[in-house]
Amino acid sequence: MSEFKCTLWPSGEVLSVNTEETLLTQLKQAGKKIKSSCGGCASCGDCMVVIKSGEMNLTPQSFEELRLLGNVFHITKERLSCQTKIIGDVTIDISAHEKNSFTGKGEKQVPKSTTTILKKKEDLEKSVRENEEKNQVKPTDDWYRHWEKEGEDPNKPRKLGGNKKPKAFNYTDADDKKDKE
Ligand code: FES
Repeated sequence: MSEFKCTLWPSGEVLSVNTEETLLTQLKQAGKKIKSSCGGCASCGDCMVVIKSGEMNLTPQSFEELRLLGNVFHITKERLSCQTKIIGDVTIDISAHEKNSFTGKGEKQVPKSTTTILKKKEDLEKSVRENEEKNQVKPTDDWYRHWEKEGEDPNKPRKLGGNKKPKAFNYTDADDKKDKE
């Protein structure tokens, strides 16, 4: 079993990794906290790492990885660590997993979800009530076809633009004759 160097950026810490296990497994074995909601099935995308150097020393992207990330590695330099094995020296950036990525203390630490914000039941009920009150206030329709309303002079010039009644087209025989000349 060959061993290679995996340098973590920006700390510069060097881990010894083998070619048999995935990068995610080996990072976890080294005590690094890497998010992985789907357990390595290439369906959550949480275990993503950025390859700083040595991209040629990684196994090719699997069909599942390409389906999730797309064919954009040459731009993003992102790989799913659960799908990647190392076959040479690499430098990777796992700082996204370290910075404020976990919540709780000690052994109770769990990854912070990036998509779900849990609200307390009372807060939820309060916001539902507020939305219901807001929706009860219906917008007035004072402005809708205001020229047709009783007591309004249809010929009165309006200052605001838009919603104006179109002008009548005045066409006379004299105009017709002028066009023909
Ligand atoms: S752990 Fe979910 S995609 Fe890798």
